Amino acid sequence: MSSVLRVGLLTGGGDCPGLNAVIRAVSKSLILQHRAQIVGFENGYEGLIKQRSRRLEYADVSGILTLGGTVLGTSNTANPFRYYGRGDADVSRSVLQYYHQLGLDAVVAIGGDGTMSILHQLQEIGLQCVGVPKTIDNDLVGTDRTFGFDTAVSIAADAIDRLQSTAQAHSRVMIIETMGRHAGWIALYAGVAGASDIILIPELPYDIDEVARVCREREIGGQNFTIITVAEGARAAGGDSAMLEGTDRGGNLRFGGIGHLLQEQLSTRIRSQLRTSILGHVQRGGTPTAFDRTLATAFGSYAAAMVADKQFGRMVTLHNNQLGSISLSEVANRTRTVPVDSPMLAAAIAVGTSVGVKDFDLRMQGDIETRAVT
Ligand code: F6P
Repeated sequence: MSSVLRVGLLTGGGDCPGLNAVIRAVSKSLILQHRAQIVGFENGYEGLIKQRSRRLEYADVSGILTLGGTVLGTSNTANPFRYYGRGDADVSRSVLQYYHQLGLDAVVAIGGDGTMSILHQLQEIGLQCVGVPKTIDNDLVGTDRTFGFDTAVSIAADAIDRLQSTAQAHSRVMIIETMGRHAGWIALYAGVAGASDIILIPELPYDIDEVARVCREREIGGQNFTIITVAEGARAAGGDSAMLEGTDRGGNLRFGGIGHLLQEQLSTRIRSQLRTSILGHVQRGGTPTAFDRTLATAFGSYAAAMVADKQFGRMVTLHNNQLGSISLSEVANRTRTVPVDSPMLAAAIAVGTSVGVKDFDLRMQGDIETRAVT
C-alpha cells in the first residue's frame, strides 16, 4: 500500500434505505482511524467504467445518516464484464486500469447479489475489494441480515395495517404485493407483523383452491375480510411467476403482476369483492429505521477495519449477532431463500396464518431448541 491509504467506494444495484449510512460509516471510519483518502464512484460500476469519481471529504459524508437513496447514485445495469453501453463488451481491463490510475488500495462496494458477483470477478482480475451486503430483500448468502430489510418490512407492515381497516369497512379480500423476486423474506416478516391471514412466498408455490378455501372459511365464519400478502416472485403450484414485459438494460428479468393474477384466480372462487395494492418502490424509499441505521453503521465501520487489515475478497456478515465476513466466492451467484424450517414460518403457521399450502406440515420445522429468529 502507498503511504496514504486510498479507498474507492461505490453503491450498486437497486437502492435501499441505509446506503448513505454505510457511505458515512466507511468514510468516517477510514478518515478518522487511518487518515485515508476516499474516492466515491458515481452510479455504481458505471462510475468505474465511465471514469466518473470524486473525492469524498469528511464534510461530504456528514449529515447523511438518515437520508434515503444514495449520494453516490447507483445502477443495477452496469456490468464491466458485459457492458450494455458498449454492445455488451467486456471492459473490465480498463476498469482495472482506472483503479490503478487513481492509486487506490481497495474498493468497498455496497450492494446485493449482482454487485457482489461482479465484485468477485473484479477481485479475480486483481482489484482488492471488500463487500457490504445491501438489499431490502434480505436474500444474500452468509449473513442473517442485510440493511434495508427492516425498513422495507416496517413500510410494508404499515401498509397492511392501513389496508386492514379499509378491508374491514368494505368486507373485502385485500391482496398486497411486496417485493421479493426469489425470496419471500419481506412478505413473510411484513405479513406476520401485519397479521396477514394468508402469506404467499416464492419458496412455497401456492394451491389456489387452498387460498380460496381459507377466504371462504373466513366469509362463513363471520370474519368479513381477509388480508393476503404475496411476494412478487410467488407463483401457483404448476404455474409460472408473473413477469413484466421485457428486461432492463442489463438484461435482468422484471417480476410483477402476481397480485392481479391472484385476484383474477380468486374472483371465480369466492364471493367477496377483491382489491389489489402493489407496494413497489415505496419499500425502497425514504429514511432508514433506527435498526437499519445502526446495522449500516456497524457494517460500514467493520468494512473499513477489513480494508485496513487487508482482508480483501470478502463481504461483511452478521451471523448470530456477531460481525464477521465471508469469501465473495461463496456469495457470488447465490440467493438465500426462506428455508422450509424457518422459525418465522413456524410462528406464522402456529398462529393460524395460511401459507397457501394444504396441510403444511409443522413437523417439517426444526428442533424447537434451535429456533433462532434471524
Ligand atoms: O433487489 C431489490 C428489488 O427491490 C427486488 O425485490 C425488485 O424486483 C427489484 O429490486 C426491482 O428493481 P428495479 O425496479 O430498480 O429494477
